[in-house]
Amino acid sequence: MVRQRTWTTSVTLLWLAGAGLAALSATRLLGTAPGGPVTLHASVSPAQPVYGTEDDYGYGSRLTDIERAGRDTWYFWTGGNEKFWVRMAELTEGNVDLLNYVDSRRHGRRFRELGAVTQPGCEAATGPDEFGLWLDTCRPDALPASFGQPAGIVGLRRFPNPAFNPATWNAETYRTHPKGMQPPYLIGMACGFCHVGFNPLNPPVDPERPKWSELAGAIGNQYWEEGRLFNLKMTPKDFRWHLGNRQPPGTSDTSRFATDHVHNPSNINAVFLLGHRPTVMEKMPDGTERAVHHILKDGADSVGVAGASLRVYVNIGMCSDIWLTRIDPVAGLVPQQPFRMAEARQKCEDWRNTEARMEAAEAFLKTIGPMHLADAPGGARYLGEPQAEVSQGAGVFARECAQCHSSKQPPSPLADPGARRAWFENAVREPDFLTNNFLSDDRRYSVRELGTNVARAMGTNAQKGNVWEEFSSETYKQLPPAGTIVGLYNPRKPDDPISMTVSKGGYYRTPSLVSMWATAPYLHNNALGTYVKDPSVAGRMAAFNDAVEKLLWPEKRLGVQSIIVTSTPSELGVTGRDRPVQIPAGTPVDLIARVDPTRLPALVRNRVILNLLSDETLFRGFLRNNVAPDFVLDRGHTFGAQLKDDDKRALIAYLKRM
Ligand code: HEC
Ligand code: HEC
Repeated sequence: MVRQRTWTTSVTLLWLAGAGLAALSATRLLGTAPGGPVTLHASVSPAQPVYGTEDDYGYGSRLTDIERAGRDTWYFWTGGNEKFWVRMAELTEGNVDLLNYVDSRRHGRRFRELGAVTQPGCEAATGPDEFGLWLDTCRPDALPASFGQPAGIVGLRRFPNPAFNPATWNAETYRTHPKGMQPPYLIGMACGFCHVGFNPLNPPVDPERPKWSELAGAIGNQYWEEGRLFNLKMTPKDFRWHLGNRQPPGTSDTSRFATDHVHNPSNINAVFLLGHRPTVMEKMPDGTERAVHHILKDGADSVGVAGASLRVYVNIGMCSDIWLTRIDPVAGLVPQQPFRMAEARQKCEDWRNTEARMEAAEAFLKTIGPMHLADAPGGARYLGEPQAEVSQGAGVFARECAQCHSSKQPPSPLADPGARRAWFENAVREPDFLTNNFLSDDRRYSVRELGTNVARAMGTNAQKGNVWEEFSSETYKQLPPAGTIVGLYNPRKPDDPISMTVSKGGYYRTPSLVSMWATAPYLHNNALGTYVKDPSVAGRMAAFNDAVEKLLWPEKRLGVQSIIVTSTPSELGVTGRDRPVQIPAGTPVDLIARVDPTRLPALVRNRVILNLLSDETLFRGFLRNNVAPDFVLDRGHTFGAQLKDDDKRALIAYLKRM
């Protein structure tokens, strides 16, 4: 059976909207304490309970009660998705198995091997437990039982399994053949699993054993290797291994379970200054107008906080009794149907319990402000540029970047580009220009104008008739399609460029540049810039310098070298065949992974080897069926490329101070 698009993530998220913004106005964002800037409330009293450990998960007494409740939700609440994950272990024959993933024998190697963050307070097991499982010994949290207990990795939670059957249980057999077996524990996933990362202002002394104060709530786990979670047992002999394991670290294909047949992993972006993120009036599915954010790379999540914040929970397994009847999670062989919020609210208790927590979670996320290089240990070493150069850089930013990368915009629309530039030239001179500036207009721009890789902009799950239809605005659904994109690199015949017509969507919303010194590589797919697996300030600056140079000097980019190809010969199962088809080393993975798997039998026919780069007919067939035949990952967004070197250097000096 065809499975090339199988198990990998599917998460996505969304959040907030205009609704809660007013609540923030009374708060002040402070500088830089470990764990990130925090909101100061007059009401904080030292008598508040400090549950958790090591100074309340690194936050001390800085959070209000509601923000603390939100922090706990973000870090630890699974919304009951442990019921889904145990099913995934069965459906994927143990390839996606959180119980195996948290195995304590990887303690001390989790960052190196999985890109995962070990939970502070968890120690390596010294032997198997009564069920033959190796699980970390963790300091228990003082959280209610509905949060489960720590499972060894931040954001993964352990629950007793009510359906556990000791009579049929065998730990070794479960690892290879989980089918029909109920383990003693269920492991659920909280948002923090992907979103909590190393603190740029207080980097871990040992990334394998961080302290809470060395972690930051929403910087994103920039080192997480999704392929290691979803292809746990696979080897390079399996084509699917190459999909997950060659994907840039820190990315997740959030439309993998509810698959849209577009292989398009996106970076887990940092969430900063949520309370200052702009909103736009859009038409909702019920016809009303509402001020909403453009959440997700393509701005698809656009119905406001009430429904939107819950979609991610569903996407990582909440209410799976309903969700799994709307999608084919593993193979994606049957068409999707819309997930209905009203039905979930009525039938799924986890939805109601989670919905009740969303206001607090939003309040917590709004406490997270910028993290400045100047406040990082040794940061001053990288900030030696004279003030005149930084000031020159601010001017370049005003002329070339601010129209998109600023939430502070001219008070009334200035149609004339010259007048807009003049407004920004003045604005950047204000001493508080960067204060509470989200550094994005949060608007959607056509991928044709941006020139970046089209794949993520081709996501269709939020379009009419598909699984997330209720979670996107009508405005989003009615965007004029981006149209025809020409000149795409042809991996078979480089002198015969590919063109494609985008008939729906095709947009990326402007990302925030807040603290961009700490968040390289860049672009929606993390493909621009060299990945540096080192969360120290020096490591982050090495990544920043490389990525920002590639941004402004496009000739330094990898270009054709950024195409992901299979590194060894591999094989792929195809429906209706008893033998898998062979895939030669050097095959671009996206040539196959962006084709609807139901089309494969007709395309492959009786071939034994898929020689896509030498078999013209075969190549044309795959290309025609490819939903995003754009293979170069680090192209596009060449704003600023035409500047003089001197201006580029000055701009970089300014960008690293954001
Ligand atoms: C498996 C990893 C993973 C998990 C778990 C996860 N996310 Fe995310 N999150 C991502 C990725 C990847 C993105 C970027 C996706 C995109 O924009 O296409 C993201 C982005 C976000 C954003 C920012 C979007 C923006 O436009 O700036 C928010 C907010 C968010 N997630 C909320 C959540 C919530 C709520 C949960 C828990 C229910 C959650 N995430 C769990 C991977 C994850
Ligand atoms: C027309 C609007 C627009 C202009 C002008 C613009 N950008 Fe962007 N920028 C975007 C959009 C949209 C993206 C997301 C593109 C993608 O990921 O495919 C982006 C992405 C980026 C990123 C990657 C951020 C990340 O977290 O991955 C950086 C860095 C960046 N821009 C810097 C700049 C600089 C510096 C300038 C000026 C020289 C500039 N941009 C001009 C719209 C713009």
